[in-house]
Amino acid sequence: MATRVEPTPGALRIEWAGGAVSEYASVWLRDNRPADRDPSNGQRLIDVVELPADPRIRSAVAADGSVVVEWEGEPQGTSFDLDWLARHGAAGDDQRPELRARLWLEGGALDAENAFAWASLADVQRDDVARVGWLTRLLQDGMAFLRGVPCNEAGILDSTALIGRVCETNYGVVFDVRSVAQPENLAYSDLGLGLHTDNPYRDPVPGFQALHVLTASRDGGDSLFADGFAIAEHLRSTDPEAFALLTRTPVPFLYQARDTDLYAERPLIQLSCRETVTAVHYNSRSIAPLRLSPAETRPYYAAYRRFAMLLRDSRLQLRLRLNDGDMVVFDNQRILHGRTGFTSARHPRYLRGCYLTRDSVYCETARLRRGLDGERRR
Ligand SMILES: [Fe+2]
Repeated sequence: MATRVEPTPGALRIEWAGGAVSEYASVWLRDNRPADRDPSNGQRLIDVVELPADPRIRSAVAADGSVVVEWEGEPQGTSFDLDWLARHGAAGDDQRPELRARLWLEGGALDAENAFAWASLADVQRDDVARVGWLTRLLQDGMAFLRGVPCNEAGILDSTALIGRVCETNYGVVFDVRSVAQPENLAYSDLGLGLHTDNPYRDPVPGFQALHVLTASRDGGDSLFADGFAIAEHLRSTDPEAFALLTRTPVPFLYQARDTDLYAERPLIQLSCRETVTAVHYNSRSIAPLRLSPAETRPYYAAYRRFAMLLRDSRLQLRLRLNDGDMVVFDNQRILHGRTGFTSARHPRYLRGCYLTRDSVYCETARLRRGLDGERRR
């Protein structure tokens, strides 16, 4: 509820019950007139050049949950819903819950059972409230687990249909992580794998990865995970120079096989225009020779090594043994994953994986929540 509405020609200031204050520039208000949006789909009907260059507020009066703004030189005023203004103010709390990332640095101290969302496939299949809760935790924590996924070859796609859209790559719609002779990728061997993100040589980099355990290893083959966002933030606070170098140095990533040739350049730590960490790309197996001058090379390697040492620090690694029928889903641009070595001749280990597009997982979460909110309001 607004307790005071104070217009000037250039801005509208609103004091809310509770003491918060929001300010709205006149050009922003003029650009957001409800009449300039299609009433059925909400899309904007005008673009910025159709606005007056310098719209000025003549008056603003609040009544009955709205504020009516009159404009200088225009016959028509505009009524804004105060709740809408409160949600859309610069200090408003309109952020989608799934965008509030919860970083976890010391994975070695976490108990995976309690620290992350676990649900049975049956629960998320029949209950949208359980599914949106699980999806929201997946996006906040960067990873989440399902149990009871049938141990057959269709299990993974039947389950991921509840999460997002699968994207096909040169590895197929799904890929089988099990040891073969002469593997085209070291993932298909008994070797332990250090923490990495998948496919940084691809554009776009796969958003999410699902790994379904059809046959768990009884002899090694533990899964390792770390939160790349938390590790990047740790580096930013402890070694800002190294952090800055890793955010602005392009690293070439390459994958070549008989029918495939993939190349992309990206920094190991990627920032948004707000300087928040939006992606971590680290895959030692696919880093191509760096293209740096000798003067750039030495400091870069020091920073690169520092980051890689953090990834090897077992205190920062969540380690767990997944069981038959478990499925882990994680943000491949945030969570690094790896495994300990195993001996497939004695105990075969078989995981089936797939990638999901990044936007589709956010979309499914927001769409479900919107549907449930609508039901609650009815
Ligand atoms: Fe991988």
